[in-house]
This record gives sequence, structure tokens and C-alpha cells, in this order.
Amino acid sequence: MHTTLIAAHDEDGAIGRHSGGLPWHLPDETAHFRAYCQDKWLIVGRQTFNEMLGWFQPGHHIIVLTSNHHPLPALPHPDIHVESARSMEDAQTRALQSGAAEIVVIGGARTYAAALPAATRLVLTTVHLHSQATVLFPPVSWNQWRRTHTSHRRQDTSTTVEFTIDTWERIENTHPQQAAIAP
Ligand SMILES: NC(=O)c1ccc[n+]([C@@H]2O[C@H](COP(=O)([O-])OP(=O)(O)OC[C@H]3O[C@@H](n4cnc5c(N)ncnc54)[C@H](OP(=O)(O)O)[C@@H]3O)[C@@H](O)[C@H]2O)c1
Repeated sequence: MHTTLIAAHDEDGAIGRHSGGLPWHLPDETAHFRAYCQDKWLIVGRQTFNEMLGWFQPGHHIIVLTSNHHPLPALPHPDIHVESARSMEDAQTRALQSGAAEIVVIGGARTYAAALPAATRLVLTTVHLHSQATVLFPPVSWNQWRRTHTSHRRQDTSTTVEFTIDTWERIENTHPQQAAIAP
């Protein structure tokens, strides 16, 4: 069972604007993101959930990470499964108990940071530009990961911006929890 973080960042590690939203509009990269998330269990932070309300599709199982008890805004498709969780551990337990084969964490920055210690796979798009955006993907200890796949550098057909998609798998026994108890 994988816990996967999927994100797109620029050459400087930026993933979003401080005021909310992505620093780019790349339909081809979004298509990759959509395809990976199809029919999966998704963990999303409340901020990003609010930004993406119209994006979710039937087949998604959504767990919104939030520490407050306010009702979540309604989704345009009433038949999408959505629930909230108060912590990353709670969200992962719910997904596992429901039989999820893979949990996909779709952001944003605070949610990636909370999920990274337990993550086993990273699917990261590098957008080959410097957006000057200030919300960053959390720091990764790259010696705990090995790259298992890289795509060709592609050009987004409508914007000509280039991007590359890499998949990383965690090297066994490098979870912080495991490292802490290793002799
Ligand atoms: N480029 C990409 O791939 C990508 C993907 C997704 C998002 N983004 C961007 O990322 C930015 C948003 O990131 P963000 O960090 O501000 O927001 P976020 O992670 O989407 O949401 C933050 C909220 O989630 C809840 N939360 C997060 N971690 C939690 C934890 N451990 N326990 C309980 N609740 C937790 C809290 O909600 P409460 O305040 O309700 O407690 C927190 O305020 C936006 O610019 C967005 O566009 C980029």
C-alpha cells in the first residue's frame, strides 16, 4: 500500500501563491494529475479543497484535513464521497480501514509537510520556470529516496512551458519512525 504525494513545483520548489492558487495554468500537467488521481483515495488540506471544489469527480474518495468543526462546502457532484479528518494519522487510518489500495496526498504545502514522514512514493512535476511564488513544497531528505521513473521533458501544448515528471520511491527502512528505533 502506497502513500503518494503528487505535486508540481517550479525550479525553486514553489507550488503555490501565498494568496492561494497555482502560479501557472498548464492543461497537460493538470491532465496527468487528473489521471493519477482517478478513482483514488485523496487527502487534501482544507485550503486546497476549497480551491479545487469544481475539480473533484465521481470516483474520488476525499478526506479533507482540518482542525475545525465547520461543515465542508458542498461539491458540485453530490455522489462524491467526502469526509473530514482532524489529523494526518486519522486520515490515513480512515482510508486504510476503507480498503484503499493507495492514498494520494494532493496538497497543499502544510498537508504535504504533515504527510511526508509516512510517504512511500513521490510523483513530482518540475515546471521549468521561476514563478517567484512563495508557497514551497517541504524539504525532502533525498538520500531516503530513489528515482524510479522520469518522463521526457515535455512542452505544455497551450502555453509552451516545459515540465518533467519524476517518480520517487522511498528506500526501505528510511521512515523517520523506523530510523528512530533502528540500532
Ligand atoms: N502545485 C501543486 O501541486 C499544489 C497542489 C495543491 C495545492 N497547491 C497550492 O498550495 C497552497 C495551499 O497550501 P497551504 O499549505 O496553504 O494549505 P493546505 O495544506 O491546502 O490546507 C491547510 C489547512 O489544512 C488543514 N491542515 C493541514 N495540515 C493539517 C494537520 N496536520 N492537522 C490538521 N489539519 C491540517 C488546516 O485546516 P484548518 O485551518 O481548517 O484547521 C490548514 O489550515 C495553494 O497556493 C495551492 O494552490 C499546490
